[in-house]
Amino acid sequence: MSTNLRLGVMGCANIAWRSMLPALRKAEGWRLAAVASRTPDKAQRFADAFGAEAVVGYEHLLERDDIDAIYMPLPTGLHREWVAKALGARKHLLVEKSFAEDDSVTRELLAQAQAAGVCVIENYLFVHHAQTQAIREVIQEGAIGDLLLLRTTFSFPPLSSDNFRYQRELGGGALLDAGGYTAMLCQEFLGKPDIQRCDAHRDHEPCQFPPGRSAEGDAEPSFRRGRLGQGEEVRRMKSELKVLSSWLEWDPKTGVDLAGATTLRNSLGVVAQCYFGFHSYYQCLAEFLGTRGKLSTGRIFTAPPDLTPSLVLDRQSGREERTLPADNQYRNMWRHFRDCILAGDYEPGYQAIELQADLLTRIRTYAHGG
Ligand SMILES: NC(=O)c1ccc[n+]([C@@H]2O[C@H](COP(=O)([O-])OP(=O)(O)OC[C@H]3O[C@@H](n4cnc5c(N)ncnc54)[C@H](OP(=O)(O)O)[C@@H]3O)[C@@H](O)[C@H]2O)c1
Repeated sequence: MSTNLRLGVMGCANIAWRSMLPALRKAEGWRLAAVASRTPDKAQRFADAFGAEAVVGYEHLLERDDIDAIYMPLPTGLHREWVAKALGARKHLLVEKSFAEDDSVTRELLAQAQAAGVCVIENYLFVHHAQTQAIREVIQEGAIGDLLLLRTTFSFPPLSSDNFRYQRELGGGALLDAGGYTAMLCQEFLGKPDIQRCDAHRDHEPCQFPPGRSAEGDAEPSFRRGRLGQGEEVRRMKSELKVLSSWLEWDPKTGVDLAGATTLRNSLGVVAQCYFGFHSYYQCLAEFLGTRGKLSTGRIFTAPPDLTPSLVLDRQSGREERTLPADNQYRNMWRHFRDCILAGDYEPGYQAIELQADLLTRIRTYAHGG
């Protein structure tokens, strides 16, 4: 492997053009080798803009031996096929959320990744924004007392009717899209076991959370080994978050869920309420209510690189607003992905994906009455 990791992009997606590829230029240790599209014009436009070779057809990208890693911004419904093929070609993978349509496909693919010995990361960017770490620190300082409730909303106005998010066979629907962010936020603050992250480029230590409460019954996820396919051993991790209620607004016309709401609880009794959807006024909120105060932010998931996010702290003594420095979560993700590949320990990435798939699947199952 050369010092610069060589990247191939599978699918000339909007998110790649708008955010991920501009940020790649700001991250050290990467070289964009090739961009692949189903159509020659699109591949060429991306190749010209970002300085790479244009490839027509995703399979030709995987045939190349000058590529170490793939960034895959394809719709979720195509991941089963293309993640499996990329793993077959032993490429490290940064995969757009949601990783797969359900937990069983996820586990199949992770078993394959484990066998191939490659790094796989799901692209939840806000986890790598300094704002998320700052929120942890404020709560850890005891500024709001003990955490009781996390409320989060990620929803936006209707998209163009040909958007893949309205197509069932492409893995559309609000749960796998906006809902995934709200669930991941809950995992980050209420639910996950102690997953080690490659945070070498950050100044902060990963912190324990929430403070001031017993960790009894909290840290260990339910974990057992199972068998899949031809005797292959796979992990079976379950997020420690319980689904107390869940509702999905199913649209008979498109066959996808257009919105949803869920209530979750961890073993410490901390509750989360999430709303997500495709037909509201734009919202991107997180609010942390504690015994002595409330912390909120209006741009938790999508802070652009030039935004200076602000945290609002309400307490008996009054309101305080803290403006945080701007941060580039896209660049941070490229650094994180590289660190993880070079560290050679791929378990944390697999675990984060598996826990998230487990939670999303249980939210859907509950909503369907299961
Ligand atoms: N992490 C984040 O913050 C974030 C933000 C937005 C979106 N996303 C995720 O990124 C992915 C792409 O989202 P986007 O909004 O950028 O979508 P998009 O512009 O529609 O891109 C999807 C790409 O997938 C490829 N594709 C292959 N088969 C397709 C099909 N049958 N229908 C549609 N596209 C097909 C297309 O590439 P070619 O035409 O070049 O082959 C297309 O450009 C999704 O998984 C989404 O959830 C993540």
